[in-house]
Amino acid sequence: MVGTAYIEWVYNFYAGVYDVVFERFFKAGRHSAVAELAPKPGERILEVGVGTGACIPLFPTNVHFTGIDLSQGMLDEAHEKSRVEGWKHVRLLKGDATKLDFPDDSFDAVLAAYFITTVPDPRAVVQEMKRVCRRGGRLVFVNHFMAPNTFINDVELALAPLLWRVGWRSDLKLPDFLRMTNLHPERVQLVDRLGLWRTLYCVNHKNAAGPEEEKPKRTFIPQALRRWGKRLATVRMRKTERVRD
Ligand SMILES: C[S@@+](CC[C@H](N)C(=O)[O-])C[C@H]1O[C@@H](n2cnc3c(N)ncnc32)[C@H](O)[C@@H]1O
Repeated sequence: MVGTAYIEWVYNFYAGVYDVVFERFFKAGRHSAVAELAPKPGERILEVGVGTGACIPLFPTNVHFTGIDLSQGMLDEAHEKSRVEGWKHVRLLKGDATKLDFPDDSFDAVLAAYFITTVPDPRAVVQEMKRVCRRGGRLVFVNHFMAPNTFINDVELALAPLLWRVGWRSDLKLPDFLRMTNLHPERVQLVDRLGLWRTLYCVNHKNAAGPEEEKPKRTFIPQALRRWGKRLATVRMRKTERVRD
């Protein structure tokens, strides 16, 4: 697992090309998440990990929008959009989502778009989201969670250490995320047919976090290969037995 300083460095590196590279992949999920969040006039909205501000145009201008991000490079892109568009309802701040610099109950809704798997400690982020959001407010997530399919699962586990190096993790399972954050979503929706992205809509009950995340098992390719080797061996044994019968 990598640290916050490394993640900051990676996103500073991406900043100039982020929108061009990722817009196509993330567009549907952003629309779906903002529709779930259903912003109302005058509401105070926070986006943690606002990045280049790609979600901001999806909000009406009659909300009070705050975006925070660790990466100055990503924020500079968002500031430039804000300047060009003349957004008066938007405030962009540098900050770490695991230690938010806002008093309790400062927001009516908090959004985390493609963010939760870019932080080494998602449990701490969600605790902060719950703290700064008022009781009964909305917490909305759009993210990739590990596929239930065993083969893809193995690939995602095997790639996890590598993907951390390029800025996100691929080994977070939805049930683990819900357990460690003690979140109970009202709705979980698939964004795409492949099941790559899901939106979670939660009401903020201000409940305590769940147990700490278990340290991921060492997930090297040989482990997955061994498992598939065993499966193949079992299939071959069964075939041989059938031939003998
Ligand atoms: C994959 S981008 C998503 C950006 C945006 N939400 C979007 O929809 O495109 C993840 C963002 O989270 C930021 N980030 C990562 N760790 C963070 C932290 N601990 N606190 C605040 N921002 C963080 C990164 O700098 C990056 O801009």
